[in-house]
Amino acid sequence: MKWFQKIDYLFFTLNLISSLVFCQAPSSRWELVSTLVGDKLYFFGGWVANNTASDEVWYIDLSIPFNTATPPWSKTTNMPVGYNFGSAIYDNDMSSVYLIGGNAFLPNTPNFTFGHILYAFDTVNSQWSTPDVKFDAPFYFPVEMPAVYKSGKVYAAGGKTALLSDKNQTVINNLTLILDVASMTWSTSLKIPFAPIDHTATLLPNGLIVHIGGYTFPMINMSLIQIFDTNTLSWSTKNASGDFINARLGHTAVLTRNGSIIIYGGSLFSSHGPNVCPDLAVLDTNAWIWYIPVLPKENAPPPLTFHSAALYNDYMIIAFGRATIVYDNIAINNNIYLFDTNNYLWVTEMSPPSNTTQTPTIAPVTAISTTQTATTTAPVNTTPAPMNTTTAPVNTTPGPVNTTPTPVNIKISETKK
Ligand SMILES: *[C@@H]1O[C@H](CO)[C@@H](O)[C@H](O)[C@H]1NC(C)=O
Ligand SMILES: *[C@@H]1O[C@H](CO)[C@@H](O)[C@H](O)[C@H]1NC(C)=O
Ligand SMILES: *[C@@H]1O[C@H](CO)[C@@H](O)[C@H](O)[C@H]1NC(C)=O
Ligand SMILES: *[C@@H]1O[C@H](CO)[C@@H](O)[C@H](O)[C@H]1NC(C)=O
Ligand SMILES: *[C@@H]1O[C@H](CO)[C@@H](O)[C@H](O)[C@H]1NC(C)=O
Ligand SMILES: *[C@@H]1O[C@H](CO)[C@@H](O)[C@H](O)[C@H]1NC(C)=O
Ligand SMILES: *[C@@H]1O[C@H](CO)[C@@H](O)[C@H](O)[C@H]1NC(C)=O
Ligand SMILES: *[C@@H]1O[C@H](CO)[C@@H](O)[C@H](O)[C@H]1NC(C)=O
Ligand SMILES: *[C@@H]1O[C@H](CO)[C@@H](O)[C@H](O)[C@H]1NC(C)=O
Repeated sequence: MKWFQKIDYLFFTLNLISSLVFCQAPSSRWELVSTLVGDKLYFFGGWVANNTASDEVWYIDLSIPFNTATPPWSKTTNMPVGYNFGSAIYDNDMSSVYLIGGNAFLPNTPNFTFGHILYAFDTVNSQWSTPDVKFDAPFYFPVEMPAVYKSGKVYAAGGKTALLSDKNQTVINNLTLILDVASMTWSTSLKIPFAPIDHTATLLPNGLIVHIGGYTFPMINMSLIQIFDTNTLSWSTKNASGDFINARLGHTAVLTRNGSIIIYGGSLFSSHGPNVCPDLAVLDTNAWIWYIPVLPKENAPPPLTFHSAALYNDYMIIAFGRATIVYDNIAINNNIYLFDTNNYLWVTEMSPPSNTTQTPTIAPVTAISTTQTATTTAPVNTTPAPMNTTTAPVNTTPGPVNTTPTPVNIKISETKK
């Protein structure tokens, strides 16, 4: 299957449509990629209900107060490809958002196409480019692998790939991949102790990258916290104690200011799997203890997987995703949910803070799915659904399985039915 990325170094300038603002909302989607750029929260691509890969780029300007019933959506320059899976990386010292580890499709089709290792989006000029990236390894560039940025380097580990010597042979990427941004060269480093797929990676201020969950065979135990130290370039593991947290993939993780990682959602066994318990859990990264806060249900999202999450002004912003209430039910949504991480409440309004210094530093690591293309959903109304805290159940009949090329035909695959 021709899923691998061909690195031909084209340069796209799709500046015909520049930052058009529509009075409309994006259609429901999941497996999208998301990141904060200053006060703007961007959403790239995703798998939409008519079973195609979106090339759209939407954002919300968070500096303007809003209610989740009417998020102030704006749309900007489309990606050169439809895109799902993958990770968006941005930091103040970067000139562009980088998207890596996703699958590329002909826009608005389910047709897989040769992708690039890196798509760069210049948010100032609203332009896409595909920089010349060097990646020298005995395997193709992995997908479904979260990445984080720190001081001129991008770090990633895990994900799935195939060997150059046999592209039918799906393997998990064991190695730590490090991109030197100045030279646009990836190097491979130490093995991650237990290589996961569809996990999260969260950078702590002390330079540790905390890897949580995901699957290998079997799922990664949530007590097993795998840590990459960017100072010493070494791996270690922590055995987190505390409450019992279901294993999961497709969840998200954000870091709060007091050093807690809040995870949300995910599914068991596969992207089409059932919901996990609890939906929301907190890992204290000082003591490595999990706990499950007791939360009022009011304004809470349904259980979601392959949604996006970001932390902004002490609000965890959850967006899009598949509701996992029923196994294999592809009910996707376009809602936004706000979790106040100071008061531990789901709320519907977000106002700019009164004079706190904001450092929305932790890019959401939107985990990525492995079987997103495996089930079709009957076409649904693509009109933006009225905002509603209940996920609009999109047509729930799982359709015929799989016509879409998946990047790799994974052996270590999740159980599907
Ligand atoms: C699928 O839906 C998207 C909107 O979500 C639309 O832009 C696209 O044209 C649709 N594609 C097909 C093949 O219907
Ligand atoms: C997508 O693939 C289908 C099936 O191979 C083909 O019929 C269709 O023309 C393709 N669409 C595009 C836009 O290439
Ligand atoms: C890989 O799979 C393709 C399609 O199924 C097949 O034609 C090819 O022979 C396989 N290659 C190897 C090395 O097994
Ligand atoms: C990862 O490690 C396992 C076991 O050591 C090995 O079988 C597999 O081929 C490795 N994956 C890659 C991409 O090298
Ligand atoms: C995960 O690990 C913890 C601690 O070692 C153990 O108590 C628990 O049973 C494990 N969970 C699963 C599902 O294996
Ligand atoms: C993790 O800690 C639990 C108790 O908190 C213990 O039962 C278990 O054996 C530990 N696992 C490992 C791998 O150290
Ligand atoms: C972080 O803040 C939250 C909300 O105030 C609180 O529940 C939690 O215990 C704090 N965690 C730590 C490690 O201080
Ligand atoms: C924020 O701080 C500025 C100066 O530091 C002050 O003038 C302003 O009144 C403050 N705003 C609020 C809402 O506290
Ligand atoms: C939300 O959607 C559900 C299902 O479509 C509907 O029954 C309910 O009335 C809606 N609620 C609001 C506040 O629109």
